[in-house]
Amino acid sequence: MASLTIRKLDDAVKTYLRLRSAGNGRSVEEEVRVILGDLIQGHAEFPAPSPAAASPPAEAPARPAARALVHGLAHGLATGQAGVTLIIGGGIAAFKSLELIRRLKERHIDVRCVLTKAAQQFVTPLSASALAHERVYTDLFDPESEFDAGHIRLARDCDLIVVAPATADLMAKMAHGHADDLASAILLATNRPILLAPAMNPLMWNNAATRRNVLQLRRDGVIMIGPNAGEMAEANEAGVGRMAEAVEIAAAAVDILRPPQPRPLLGKRVLITAGPTHEPIDPVRYIANRSSGKQGFAIAAAARAAGADVTLVSGPVELRDPAGVTVIRVESARDMLHRVEAALPADIAIFAAAVADWRVANEGEQKLKKTSSGMPPLQLVENPDILATISKLTDKRPPLVIGFAAETEHLIENAKAKIARKGCDWIVANDVSPATGVMGGDRNTVHLLQREAEEINVDSIQVESWPVMTKEQVATELVARIAKSLGKNS
Ligand code: CTP
Repeated sequence: MASLTIRKLDDAVKTYLRLRSAGNGRSVEEEVRVILGDLIQGHAEFPAPSPAAASPPAEAPARPAARALVHGLAHGLATGQAGVTLIIGGGIAAFKSLELIRRLKERHIDVRCVLTKAAQQFVTPLSASALAHERVYTDLFDPESEFDAGHIRLARDCDLIVVAPATADLMAKMAHGHADDLASAILLATNRPILLAPAMNPLMWNNAATRRNVLQLRRDGVIMIGPNAGEMAEANEAGVGRMAEAVEIAAAAVDILRPPQPRPLLGKRVLITAGPTHEPIDPVRYIANRSSGKQGFAIAAAARAAGADVTLVSGPVELRDPAGVTVIRVESARDMLHRVEAALPADIAIFAAAVADWRVANEGEQKLKKTSSGMPPLQLVENPDILATISKLTDKRPPLVIGFAAETEHLIENAKAKIARKGCDWIVANDVSPATGVMGGDRNTVHLLQREAEEINVDSIQVESWPVMTKEQVATELVARIAKSLGKNS
């Protein structure tokens, strides 16, 4: 998608195009597309105007002029690239939108920028146009672009509209259908998907008015990425409100622009646990393990990509929330159990967390101090087994419950025993001995154990060994198996 500035064509060509398009009941731009299409499909001669426009005035262009126009346009309009109209709202995060232009262009997406008045306080139209290699649009009443209803073109002559940063004000306008500036008019006039990257102060994000607007926009089919949690530009402020990073927004845009993938888990609710748990010893110390959470997060992303409504309950990890997934962060095994129970019902539950088996019974209220009488006695008590608890529910048990088995010896034997002991349906077993590098690493070698029968009979459990794969590949394969099994059982 490249832009065509009709205004810059010579007058004779403009007149010709206006007459021809009026005669055919099309916009000028659509008419140019038809002309190009005809030409590319092999019309040797420039097509004549339709009968309705058959009496061109004396100044109608000669054919060579029209042909020159077509040659000038052919490069741009025939690129076949996906196009994004990027609306940059007025917020401190606007500077990240300049990087977003780069990231989109790297992905072979053409970008046409619209800057709100407030956005121009943070970035200049010149920097946006230099990066986009296109003119930038700022004004609803711009005579140069509005002579052929430019806001309608910007709204429709693209494959996706991205709003980054989407400010509280812009979202409020969208939710209520305002159209008093170029950005809001485009958003109201479009029939293309809209991706919002909200960015605002955490108090604004959590304000009841913004919550209502977000809900309304989601109901209207608007897609959102972020905001992320973190520090704000304002000194000493942190919370949810940071705009998603440019790479995340670009990835979400690519997902939307990609031809629709099969979504076998559409309409299914998937609940996933991930990461380690931290069990406090005193206010500053805790018991933990080496789990990175990568496998659980990868499964959440794969289930989401398959169309599921995904809730991910995660212990403390250094990973970003997968786009479109509801992420609940917890610390201890007991928190995790409560949040899992609260997230039910689900169609599928996958327990990938490395839950600490024990917690300290006599957790210190104050930091334990070294004393001359030796080490403090730590009494351990067993944590609730989340997988077993959910597998044994009678009313709210998800129809498919999948556990993981982290073993360092007798992998299959121990994993089979775990299915029997915990009452789950499948287990993904992996060897977590230090030599495998699975804990914290990016690859995994797993075995899928499935019991088909209602009654658990260890001998009838099917075992399938998968080759070494990345954790993302394991996730995709597991989701494919889930989809297949749902298909069989429905
Ligand atoms: N699990 C759980 N709650 C616990 C312990 C484990 O939900 N308190 C889940 C894990 O998420 C995993 C499965 O149970 O899906 C097996 O976890 P694993 O650590 O392999 O086994 P444990 O049950 O801890 O047994 P052991 O330590 O004896 O191997």
